[in-house]
Amino acid sequence: MSQRLQLTTEAGAPVSNNQHSQTAGAAGPVLLQDHHLLEKLARFNRERIPERVVHAVGSGAFGHFEVTNPDIARYTRMKLFNQKGKRTEVFLRFSTVAGSKGAPDTARDPRGFAVRFYTEDGNWDVVGNNTPVFFLRDGIKFPDFIHSQKYDPYSNTQEPDNVWDFFSHSPEATHQFTWLFGDRGIPATLRHMDGFGSHTFQWVNANNERFWVKFHFKTNQGIRTLTSQEAEAIGGKDPQHHQRDLYAAIERGEYPSWTLKAQVMPEADAATYRFNPFDLTKVWSHKDYPLIELGRLELNRTPDNFFADVEQAALDPAHFVPGIGPSPDRMLQARLFAYGDAARYRLGINHTQLPVNAPRGVPGGSRNYGRDGHMRFDGNGGRHKNYEPNSFDGPAQSNEASGLGVSVSGTTGTYVPVRHAEDNDYVQAGALYRLMSEEARERLVANISGSLAQVSREDIIQRAIEHFRNADEEYGSRIATAVHKLRHQR
Ligand code: HEM
Repeated sequence: MSQRLQLTTEAGAPVSNNQHSQTAGAAGPVLLQDHHLLEKLARFNRERIPERVVHAVGSGAFGHFEVTNPDIARYTRMKLFNQKGKRTEVFLRFSTVAGSKGAPDTARDPRGFAVRFYTEDGNWDVVGNNTPVFFLRDGIKFPDFIHSQKYDPYSNTQEPDNVWDFFSHSPEATHQFTWLFGDRGIPATLRHMDGFGSHTFQWVNANNERFWVKFHFKTNQGIRTLTSQEAEAIGGKDPQHHQRDLYAAIERGEYPSWTLKAQVMPEADAATYRFNPFDLTKVWSHKDYPLIELGRLELNRTPDNFFADVEQAALDPAHFVPGIGPSPDRMLQARLFAYGDAARYRLGINHTQLPVNAPRGVPGGSRNYGRDGHMRFDGNGGRHKNYEPNSFDGPAQSNEASGLGVSVSGTTGTYVPVRHAEDNDYVQAGALYRLMSEEARERLVANISGSLAQVSREDIIQRAIEHFRNADEEYGSRIATAVHKLRHQR
């Protein structure tokens, strides 16, 4: 029989009894001198860290990305893509957006699809969703939008009034609402959905030529979705349905995979494209910019410890590597600030040292002059100089920017974004509705009207219906009829 290891206190002293507290005699009260008891209770009290302010419910796994198309060097100098068969380790965290920890996986909500590539040039994070578009086009509206989706400050429940009131004042969300209340609004599992980088990014090749790019992760398991009724039944029985499914699939060796594809737009096209290519409420037509295959992403390892690797993961859209950079997308620009800031609050300044966050693809890890701070648990740079420039061969700048600068002109101020020839808030929502089969339209209308009919104020309902009507007359009228019927049934 193997020898059991000795249980110790945090300071390493042997624990003599882990079943009974120290007491004053067999019948007496517990003693303050029971250090092991006090330490154990105190640690337990501090187990929770702040949950993510959005995307709190999540599942994660590790795996790798393998290049299948070696012809990408003409668009980008990212080393990750420079050779057929090249493998890069990845971490992927899936999530729902609005619910707090414990909320069911089966909610009708966009799913986060956040991928970290541990490249030799540092971590490249694509922090996207399972939808190619978003509700908003300017980050300044994000906190208000999220407040309208989360619990009301007075009732402490999600309020249809708030969800639809905000929407009724935000016509640009019509496209994403059509996605969300359609069939793809509730994936059957995390394995059976696509992922999108959603934003437009810039790719820069070795000749310093720039392209605009959008990323698509196409599921190789096929798309499978749940109806509202199926989701309610499954979520009621097993709120962690998606977590359980992902974990079980990987454990039994059924590794889920996605084909990574890109839409690439030559730089010069951006000014004249029929939609503003930096507007996150719009997609680029696949006819205009067809998908190009890049490689295959596979998940094949469940984390040994959920808290260590998934809860402490801090993905950040600002994590670029040479060959890729931001576009002028206003949402993306706001996000470039938000995630690092969130991680410094949620996990602390040294979260970048945690194993899941450290740039493990870079030989020797990160090298810079940042020092100290709460919970610095590596060697803190040891004896090396903590300033730069220095005369002691410390790390120095590369003189290689990740992306290229963007030309700008004009006077600083607050501007409505530039509209391109076919831009308005409704055109792509209408097109999406018309793409759906009659049965899918029926489910979409039922899902929207079921939620909208719960709103207490008629003016909010009418404003919301007007957006759907502007997208497609039939779409709006069907919702209006369905809402009317539901409200008069009560
Ligand atoms: C998580 C802010 C828009 C996808 C988060 C978090 C914050 C945040 C603060 C929590 C991060 C953490 O604590 O680690 C914002 C702001 C946005 C915005 C300010 C608008 C300007 C978006 C958009 C997408 C998105 C447009 C997708 C297209 C995600 C995902 C996560 C997340 C996937 C979870 C990351 C993970 O798994 O750790 N967001 N967000 N967000 N956001 Fe956003």
